[in-house]
Amino acid sequence: MYTHVYQLAQEIKKGIESTDSSIQLDLYQVPETLPQEVLTKMYAPPKPELPIITPEVLAEADGILFGFPTRFGSMPAQFKSFLDSTGKLWSSGSLNNKFAGIFSSTATQHGGQETTAYTAITYLAHHGIIYVPLVSKLPYFGQTDEIIGGGPWGSGTITGSDASRPVSDREKEIARDQGKHFAEVVSTYVKGKKVIETEKKKEESSDEIVESINPTRSISKTEKKKKSKKNWFCCGKNDLVD
Ligand SMILES: Cc1cc2nc3c(=O)[nH]c(=O)nc-3n(C[C@H](O)[C@H](O)[C@H](O)COP(=O)(O)O)c2cc1C
Repeated sequence: MYTHVYQLAQEIKKGIESTDSSIQLDLYQVPETLPQEVLTKMYAPPKPELPIITPEVLAEADGILFGFPTRFGSMPAQFKSFLDSTGKLWSSGSLNNKFAGIFSSTATQHGGQETTAYTAITYLAHHGIIYVPLVSKLPYFGQTDEIIGGGPWGSGTITGSDASRPVSDREKEIARDQGKHFAEVVSTYVKGKKVIETEKKKEESSDEIVESINPTRSISKTEKKKKSKKNWFCCGKNDLVD
């Protein structure tokens, strides 16, 4: 509403672009649910000129970074209302195995950035979306000389009760770091998936050749591989067994 989340999004964008300029990156805003009369009373400035998102847009992305201005320690109703309209994507599993990160802003230092991210994770879990935490190597979270937003859950900013505190340089740097890390994780997955798919196709076509040369062969190379594959289960104590 007061553009802090928008400012963080712009920094995250810079971080993503620093990794690979070929990544297609789009910023959106969710539909507003409050009447203009109420927004005026809240001294809300005009909204940034961003397209309004629809659920289908989520299905096109490999990764999604959600930015929440905290409301009572969790995401705003506007965002919840948008996410509640993604039932069709849920039933088709369209968001399964996509990646998501979270960033947020609060008026106060302990106003709920962690709970905002934590409570949003239920949406990710139900959609089968893989959550990517911040994983920042920057030293700021261990320092006490300056108030900063953000933490392991994602970048963040503290706006002050009248929303007059600008996003600080450290918060901006952390946001860029989040974008960079997120892009690296998503790109690694997307590129790796392509390699695996290409290898699988090659293997299948070499199987076809083997079978056409020796049609009596009872088991193909791929079949053999599948049969010898181990199934991994994780048990209660310290070990990983098959
Ligand atoms: C209804 C309402 C509830 C809010 N709840 C919280 C809260 O729980 N904790 C907090 O620190 N700030 C709270 N705020 C302040 C907003 O989080 C803050 O204005 C927002 O993060 C600013 O981000 P923006 O500039 O992107 O709008 C609340 C604001 C509103 C209007």
